[in-house]
Order: sequence, then structure tokens, then C-alpha cells
Amino acid sequence: MASVVTISTKPFEGQKPGTSGLRKKVKVFLQENYTENFIQSILDANKDSIVGSTLVVGGDGRYLVKEVVDKIIKIAAGNGVAKLLVGQNGILSTPAVSHLIRKYKTLGGIVLTASHNPGGINNDFGIKFNCSNGGPAPDHTTNEIYKLSTAITQYKIVPDIQCSVEKIGVQKFKVGDKDFVVEVIDSVKDYVDYMKEIFDFPKIKSLLQGAGKKPFNVLIDSMNGVTGPYVKAIFIDELGATEQNVRRIVPLEDFGGAHPDPNLTYAADLVNAVKNGDYDFGAAFDGDGDRNMIIGRDAFFVTPSDSLAVLANHLQHIPYFQRSGVKGFARSMPTAAAVDRVAAASGREMFQVPTGWKYFGNLMDAGRLSLCGEESFGTGSDHVREKDGLWAALAWLSVLSATQLSVQEILSKHWTQFGRNYFTRYDYEECPSDPCNEMMTELEKKMSGSGFVGSSHSSGGKTYVVAVADNFSYMDPVDQSVAMKQGLRIVFEDGSRIVLRLSGTGSSGATVRLYIDSYEASDVLGSAQEKLAPLIDVALQISQLQKYTGRDQPTVIT
Ligand code: G1P
Ligand code: ZN
Repeated sequence: MASVVTISTKPFEGQKPGTSGLRKKVKVFLQENYTENFIQSILDANKDSIVGSTLVVGGDGRYLVKEVVDKIIKIAAGNGVAKLLVGQNGILSTPAVSHLIRKYKTLGGIVLTASHNPGGINNDFGIKFNCSNGGPAPDHTTNEIYKLSTAITQYKIVPDIQCSVEKIGVQKFKVGDKDFVVEVIDSVKDYVDYMKEIFDFPKIKSLLQGAGKKPFNVLIDSMNGVTGPYVKAIFIDELGATEQNVRRIVPLEDFGGAHPDPNLTYAADLVNAVKNGDYDFGAAFDGDGDRNMIIGRDAFFVTPSDSLAVLANHLQHIPYFQRSGVKGFARSMPTAAAVDRVAAASGREMFQVPTGWKYFGNLMDAGRLSLCGEESFGTGSDHVREKDGLWAALAWLSVLSATQLSVQEILSKHWTQFGRNYFTRYDYEECPSDPCNEMMTELEKKMSGSGFVGSSHSSGGKTYVVAVADNFSYMDPVDQSVAMKQGLRIVFEDGSRIVLRLSGTGSSGATVRLYIDSYEASDVLGSAQEKLAPLIDVALQISQLQKYTGRDQPTVIT
């Protein structure tokens, strides 16, 4: 029998969850009691239901996941949790955690990931709490966790529990007179079974095998993140793909040195491989498996905003939606409005929420939302309450199989029907914080000053007149909660938009995100960078971004 030990501790500053959980450098988490404090604060935020509860625990395989899983086991035992479902070796993708919480109706889950941020001892780690609906905790819960972390004086732990998570199986412990169970589960099985229910695997398999014609050649890149074993189980074991169709499918603690963010910059390897090889389709996923990038033959790039719109227009090809029907659509505010046009054409409800997946959950729980996405390579549906990279790739393959068109043909057809929202995002990563905060304050002042609405701004022979200028705020239509200051937004008379916000997921300094989009009804086949150049210039003029950040060029363009 093991017993609970109470350890005195002191609060650490800054344990405030950002857009998606608490993310810091590994070395910050390695400070004595830092991680313990935050885990205890998560459990305390659930104090009314924690005793006797079940939680799911897993992470993306990055450096520190195993050690923190061990801490969670010991602290959960110390706080009266009855059972933990832990992925084997601590491995679970973020969408898989969401699915497990829902399938086994647990109180929630703890996800160990810093998502697309690099891993390894000198890089990032993260801890995120998901609620019983499977989704990231809403603001009122993360605020409560933060508040508790600022006043914590002790945590409860059972140091004597020795629990290896290497082998699948149930381990039982006695803590005082109570039972405590750790069930180590297959990291991929439940998720793969679910994907087989959602999609028509035989159809996708026959697409990949050519169905009598030329095989449809895919290249799937896990970027050494958590999706590796899921990709192997789905693409190789189920869909008959070969080792030639997959890359980087072994999860590594430092992602092999890669920055596991599936975009044109950090997944350039995949882009080049598809460009130079005989591939019809490429997809990459981030560290924890919730983001996706889709490209077609010759590395034809599908922006996440367009990907969302195309899927919205073709959901009828997916068995899950054939059964459940299609409800509304949603996107985050900075995401281009391509999907809005599909919603309007099909008479469906359309929602625009702040940045961050947590804002979609209520709408899904209320049965009003089927499909949603973010420009930041997030696409997903109400099958779980997280974005889901592999789901997005399988959804695309379902559409490709049903339409028998190429990726590029699908996009051309879509733009011809709906017009095109040209979109780009410039990221200025790890800038000094103070000048960036000042830039945002000054810009907001300028935007709310008299005469800004109605003012003209010119570049490259184009003139834009400001129609709306605000700091986006959102009231959740389900629980009426309000999220303020979600990004500075300048909308021009022709509907073009500039959005500027500071990232809430970085672990050091400030990352400025500049989002630009502009709609064209018929001129749909141009290059986004060329089309948007005047508007980008206008954005740089208005914000004086280069002066404040000291940067001439963004670090990433998507
Ligand atoms: C970024 C993305 C956002 C996404 C989040 C988590 O947050 O912009 O859309 O939900 O990562 O993947 P940010 O760093 O911009 O706060
Ligand atoms: Zn992620």
C-alpha cells in the first residue's frame, strides 16, 4: 500500500495557458516543482469531480513526455483520481486524446505537447487540459487553473507508485484504502477503428491502388511527430500503401531536429519531394497530429482556408456525414472567408470565432457545427473536439476518390464556382516583446482615431478605403461568454482585410501574425503573393511593423 505525501511549494509566475495550453521551454518545466504545481492546479480546477474520476493521459513523444507522464500518474494518485488511461510509452496524438475522452466518457485528459513548436532539451514542452467533451478547456477553466497556480502552497503525490507505461495492460495500486488503476492502452487502435467508421476505407484503398488505372501516388509526412504510428496503421496496414508513400514516421523526442509545423517553410522537404517525384497528393502533420498541410501534384498548395471550403462543399462523400447530416460551418476570424460562400450557397449556419480550437467546442456540443477550420493548418469536424490532421488527409482522399479529379482541378472548379479568397499570412517569430506590444497599442489607437474609417491607403496602383476597423470580440452563441481583444481587423470597402495579432502559443518573445485576404470573383488563377502585394504593403505602412519589430522580412510566409 502506498501513501499520499503532501509537498510544500510556492507559485511560479506565468503559468498562464495560452491559445492552447501552457507552453514553455523544457528548462522552465524542469525547475523543481514547476510541472508538479501546474498538474496540481489542473486537478484543483476540477476539485468537485476529481475524486473517483478517470483521465486520459498522453503526448506527442517529445522530450520530457515520459517524465511528465510519470509525474501525472503519481500526482493523480495523490488526488484521488480512480483511473488513468495512458497511451503506450506516453504516446497519443491530440485528436486521439479527444476521441478517447469521448469514447470512454472520462472527466477529461491531459495532453503533453507543444504542438508544432520544436522539441528537445533546448526547445519547447507543453501541458494542456481537455474537458469531458474532448475539447481544450474553455477560457473560464484555463483562467481558473492560472489563478490556482498563482496561489498554490502544496501538491499531493504518491512517490512510491512505480508504474511503467511501456507495456499495454492494467496495473492496480492501493493508495491508502483506495484503488488506483493505470491502464496502458494501444496508442492507435481506438483512433484507427474510429477512422474506419468515419470513412470508406475500401474506397480510399482502391483510389490509392489505381482502381484499374494508374495508382494514385501519395506521400505522407509525419515530420517525426506523433502521427508516425497512426500513419503506419492507416496508410500501410489498412490502405495498402508502401514505405515509399510515407516519410519520417518514427516519433523522435526532438523531431529529428525538424520544426514539426506543416507549412511551406518547415515542410519544404515534403514539398520538394512531391515537386520532384511522381506524386498526386502530399500531406504533412505537426508534432501532435492536429495540423495538416495538403498539396497536390507538382506540390500545388491548398491553403487551409480553401481546404476548409472544398471539404465543406463535398462532405456528402464521407459516410460519417451521410449518417449524421451536415450542420453548420465555422472558421476562426483570421481565416479567409472561402467557406462562408459554401455555407451561403447551401443555406447553412456560418460562425466566425476567435483564434483557437476551444471556441468551436460549444457549437459542436450544441449540434450546430459539423466542420470548421483555421488558416493555421487546422481542419476538423465534430467527430472529435480537436482539429485532426489525419482526418483532414482522409477527408481529402475521400473527395478525390469520389470526384476522380486532381487536387488542382478540384480547386480550379471550386474557384470558378465560388470565386477565390486570395490569402497569405506573414509571421515574424520571436521578436522582442515590448515593441510588439507597443505596436499593437499604437495601431489600435490609430484605428479608433477619428478619420481612420474612411481613410484611403494606396500601393502598387491600388487604393483601399477603410470600411471597418476594430479589435475583434466574440460572444459565444451557446453560453454567451465573451472573448475580447482577439485581433486587430481592418476591413476595406472592397471586402479585402488586414488582420494583426500577437501569437498566444510562442514560448519566448513575441510572434506577430499578419493576415491578408482579398476576394476576386473571376480573376481566380493568379499568384496569391502577387495579388496581395499592394495590400501587404498597405498593412506594413499602417502598422509600421518593420519599425517596431526591426524585421524587414517575415520568418514564415504561408
Ligand atoms: C496558433 C494558431 C491558431 C491555433 C493555435 C494552436 O495560435 O494561430 O490558429 O489554434 O496555434 O494550434 P497563435 O500562436 O496564433 O496564438
Ligand atoms: Zn498541434
